[in-house]
Amino acid sequence: MLNRLHANFRAVLELSSEFAMVHRHGRIVFANAALVRALGLGTRDDLIGTPVVDLYDDENLEVVEARVLAPPDSTSLPSFGLRWRAKGGAFRTTEATAARIEMDGAPAVIVLARDVTERAEFQDRLLERDRMAAIGTLSAGVAHEINNPLTYLLVNLEHVLRRLRAASASDDPIAELDDVAGDGMPVLVQALQQAVDGANKVRQIVRDLLTFSQGSVEQRGGVDVRGIVESATQMAWHEIRHRARLVKSLSEVPPVDANEARLGQVFLNLLVNAAQAIPEGRADQHEVRVITRTNEHGSVVVEVSDTGMGIPPENLSRIFDPFFTTKGATGTGLGLAISHGAIRSLGGDIKVTSVPGRGTTFQVTLPPSKSWRRAAPSSSHDLRTQVRRRVLIVDDEPLVGEAIARALSEENDVEVVTEAKQALARVQKGAVYDIVLCDLMMPVMTGMDLYAELVRAAPKLAGRLVFMTGGAFTPRARAFLENVVNPCLEKPLDTSKLRSIVARAASKD
Ligand SMILES: Nc1ncnc2c1ncn2[C@@H]1O[C@H](COP(=O)(O)OP(=O)(O)OP(=O)(O)O)[C@@H](O)[C@H]1O
Ligand SMILES: [Mg+2]
Repeated sequence: MLNRLHANFRAVLELSSEFAMVHRHGRIVFANAALVRALGLGTRDDLIGTPVVDLYDDENLEVVEARVLAPPDSTSLPSFGLRWRAKGGAFRTTEATAARIEMDGAPAVIVLARDVTERAEFQDRLLERDRMAAIGTLSAGVAHEINNPLTYLLVNLEHVLRRLRAASASDDPIAELDDVAGDGMPVLVQALQQAVDGANKVRQIVRDLLTFSQGSVEQRGGVDVRGIVESATQMAWHEIRHRARLVKSLSEVPPVDANEARLGQVFLNLLVNAAQAIPEGRADQHEVRVITRTNEHGSVVVEVSDTGMGIPPENLSRIFDPFFTTKGATGTGLGLAISHGAIRSLGGDIKVTSVPGRGTTFQVTLPPSKSWRRAAPSSSHDLRTQVRRRVLIVDDEPLVGEAIARALSEENDVEVVTEAKQALARVQKGAVYDIVLCDLMMPVMTGMDLYAELVRAAPKLAGRLVFMTGGAFTPRARAFLENVVNPCLEKPLDTSKLRSIVARAASKD
């Protein structure tokens, strides 16, 4: 009788379209056909007796140890996400449950898992589409935001250029510069200062755009939520400005493990929704408020509130449903559904409270990064005590090399080349440098290639290579940067940061 029951139990598991696997002390004793097929594992006999951990993606390790190898002894076991390793480097994403059972008269653990790979991929694609749509809508606004600072940047530069030209053509340049009534040196300095401010503004906007465009590469790491919220508000500013004041209260928060672009998209969705809930043209009476803070459990909390029309109670349970929208043809109803999915996949949550006629608050909670450690503040370096360093700049854009050289030449001996090949040739001929600033992506020989060559030809110098990048990473470049310890500076470069990096190279030996 008992034997028959056992036989039936196996038969049921065997028929199931869900994955079924039983292990004893971490070794597989049973795997059903669905599992063997989905993972492309050849025959079942190959599996029996092998270690369970071989079936899973290493990223799962914690989950596997806590839930699969030794599941808690309880009757109500919530399901958990589990990634299985399939043949040829592919993965299957599942929702799994595991429980202690008895099989063939001895204790064992059974794992049942539903394959949700396609659903997860579909969600990823939706997310990607929503992101592209959001960038499309907002790019007009962003162009506008860039044109303002660009205008005062150019007008001021042209003014200074005209005055300098006149001065250099005159017999007494200094007198000429100082002479013009009410427009002497201080005014020129002010014009240049405003040009720099304008350029910095453009830099910030471009940086914000990049934050949103890197989403297709699945990259996760401790990211700074405050910075992402800041970028999202910049991106949404064009939607908000006609409708409300923007109030930001952004406290420092621990980093979270997430993809910057996706997280940015979530906040962007919430901010655009907040703006759209407020009528246009009474910006002085309305408010969109953004808060970042840390809650009592150490989680990161981001709140987006508006003083808009609010959400009727009967809609509250539906707003996260895909395609639910009250905006007619202008809304897709995907924004919140996608945001919700993205936040849940990070182990976080989105909650909403709303009073019709008064306003709405969305609250996002995110767990802090597992690898988070408070970084010690770096000691500042006194530039005045610096020894002159020998600097080599490698950049295929001559104007970039020239400008950096100009900024560094006062305190250092600087050489500039436009090809990595030339840099290598100089080193091979015996030239000595304390630091090499090298563009990462160049058409013929890249910064990565130069690094590889230097590792062979001058290993010490390879360690002193500092990369510069405009932000467009190929997958190869990204992988490369993850594997080297060399710093990478983002263009447009921050001159004071650059000078302090060069200065620090000095204290190395
Ligand atoms: N801050 C808010 N105030 C009032 N209603 C909101 C707010 N945020 C969301 N909603 C409601 O939730 C619905 C769904 O929002 P969601 O972002 O998913 O889609 P959508 O904004 O309608 O369309 P899309 O985001 O594609 O433009 C909205 O149509 C709106 O009715
Ligand atoms: Mg929306």
